[in-house]
Amino acid sequence: IWTTENFVGQTLNSLKEKLSGDKVVLGLSGGVDSTVAAVLISRAIGENLNCIFVNNGLLRKGEFEQVIQQYVGMGLHVEGVDASKRFIQSLEGVTDPEEKRKTIGKVFIDVFEEASKKVDAVWLGQGTIYPDVIESISIKGPSATIKSHHNVGGLPDCMNLKVIEPLKSLFKDEVRQVGAELGISQSLIQRHPFPGPGLAIRILGEVTQEAIKTVQEADFIFVNALKKEGLYHDIWQAGAILLPVNSVGVMGDERTYEKCIVLRAVESRDGMTADWVDFPHKFLQKVSNEIINKVKHINRVVYDISSKPPATIEWE
Ligand code: XMP
Repeated sequence: IWTTENFVGQTLNSLKEKLSGDKVVLGLSGGVDSTVAAVLISRAIGENLNCIFVNNGLLRKGEFEQVIQQYVGMGLHVEGVDASKRFIQSLEGVTDPEEKRKTIGKVFIDVFEEASKKVDAVWLGQGTIYPDVIESISIKGPSATIKSHHNVGGLPDCMNLKVIEPLKSLFKDEVRQVGAELGISQSLIQRHPFPGPGLAIRILGEVTQEAIKTVQEADFIFVNALKKEGLYHDIWQAGAILLPVNSVGVMGDERTYEKCIVLRAVESRDGMTADWVDFPHKFLQKVSNEIINKVKHINRVVYDISSKPPATIEWE
């Protein structure tokens, strides 16, 4: 029978056997999957695991500093690499969703490759989980993928690393159970999923510093309100999206012509299908007011009531 205890025991044994004496490099994202994978591998091989956490400048407000601290507190060997400028520069003028993903994926590989050279690793550890594998197989249509997930398929062969993916057979809820079994703090385990390309795919149109700041502030208000109302853990994922359209509004006696924020929140087991969350109207009203009052350049907030399929969770 599958129990988290059995899974952890068996996985540790096989990791020890497979990796004995070898160095492993792993890219942490701040998310549940890479964190649980890192802790498992670290339990198996200790100091031979070296983690790299890249700041792509597209994370949530304050996230890089906060998560690095948590990792250090957990005793993981982690190097933080701030490459925000490089990512944002590479996205200049890019508006096509697939081009954004590919650009970010490419910069990530360059940054990661540079940082991992110092490690002299034989293995690349990854937090790939079962739905990642399935989606990357099933979404391949006759000619193209629906969305390229930059963390699936991993890094290029030229890095010459063998890949180790200890969570490959698990669903997200099982990964969370394993994380709990390993004693990882609930604040890390219960975090909502967040896409590798980060806020770039929640900013429709060009990704500018100003757009990043706007979406970070709106997201911060939304997610904090969810936490405050005790709704955060009831749902799969939530976030704010910035639309590249202006609409007319009124503030005092003034006419405004500003941007629009979309709130997106879904329920799901594995991210492959999803339903929008039926929040109390009062809650939505409060979040909308707070965003319009506090976030510069926003005069309108809308709520996304589309399910997946046919919509996807992210807008790009
Ligand atoms: P979609 O938008 O395809 O998203 O319905 C399904 C789930 O996957 C996340 N997502 C990604 N995660 N790299 C990731 O690590 C990506 O490129 C990526 N794209 C989407 C999304 O946030 C949702 O949880």
